[in-house]
Amino acid sequence: MSVINHTNGFSVAHELIYTLKVRDAMSRDVVTVVPDNSLREVQALLRERRISGTPVLDNGRLVGIVSLEDIISALDHGHIEERVGDWMTTNVVTIQDNMPLHRAVEFFRRYRFGRIPVLDAGGCLCGILTQADIVVRLMEELNHIAEEAARREIALLQRAGAPITQGQEVTMEFPVNAGDFDNAGIASARIKAALKERGIDIKVARRAAIATYEAETNIIIHSIGGAITARIGAESVTIQAADWGPGIEDVEMALRPGFSTASELVRVMGFGAGMGLPNIQKCADRFHIESKPGSGTRLEVEIDLHPVVSDGGE
Ligand SMILES: Nc1ncnc2c1ncn2[C@@H]1O[C@H](COP(=O)(O)OP(=O)(O)O)[C@@H](O)[C@H]1O
Ligand SMILES: [Mg+2]
Repeated sequence: MSVINHTNGFSVAHELIYTLKVRDAMSRDVVTVVPDNSLREVQALLRERRISGTPVLDNGRLVGIVSLEDIISALDHGHIEERVGDWMTTNVVTIQDNMPLHRAVEFFRRYRFGRIPVLDAGGCLCGILTQADIVVRLMEELNHIAEEAARREIALLQRAGAPITQGQEVTMEFPVNAGDFDNAGIASARIKAALKERGIDIKVARRAAIATYEAETNIIIHSIGGAITARIGAESVTIQAADWGPGIEDVEMALRPGFSTASELVRVMGFGAGMGLPNIQKCADRFHIESKPGSGTRLEVEIDLHPVVSDGGE
């Protein structure tokens, strides 16, 4: 996973972990145990299924997790015949199935667990995610992208010499609702697609996508609702994110890396790392934010479509 963690700049893998969701990568076939199973039974199960840990369900609700390390420790300390319920880890870190993979990668970096149980919107266990699952999914997706690129190249060769048309300015608008995590990423994906369609450099399109995605999630998490507008001109794309409130108390503070007022609930869902606004600034050629408590927040990001100097990302 370090490859993904340390991917700097705006690589394809970096973008993918923003756009793919946890449910796109997780395994749905989850092996589980109940608190009354003995650790010995779990040991046999882990060996048989070749896995290194399993969630513990009590009446269908996730109540703990037991790992190979717990089994080894039980063997060492002589409680291998005892109940799982008495020795499992009860403080389980989980992630929601509609979260972007990016958040799962952050989880694995932060906690160094081997697996994260995945919950659906109703709080029920619907899958389990390991770092290997993420790698496999990324490989599939990268393969797909490579195949598409090959097809495009062939098509391009067939049309060689055709002039690239410079379309006129285009404006797109996307309403963004408070709390609507399921639709996070729509504005981001559409704006990126529009830029790609116009033959804009993929790195520029990715920066626009990431900035838009962070702005979208901020409206979803922190505001009562708003909208994203993108204006693609000949020289630059301007993305505006405006909401109706409640506004930001201290803008300078909000811009600091790691600063977040996200609730515990939102953090448990994998948001609230306090890197959104700093990431937006990193993606922007020009950045402006205006906010007052009581009224809304207005953020404007401008990215040059034909940068003279490379961003050095790849
Ligand atoms: N649209 C917004 N409305 C109100 N507050 C916001 C908005 N966007 C950002 N903030 C404030 O700025 C802080 C930092 O934002 P950000 O860097 O995106 O981190 P995070 O979203 O992870 O908390 C947020 O925790 C929140 O307090
Ligand atoms: Mg944010």
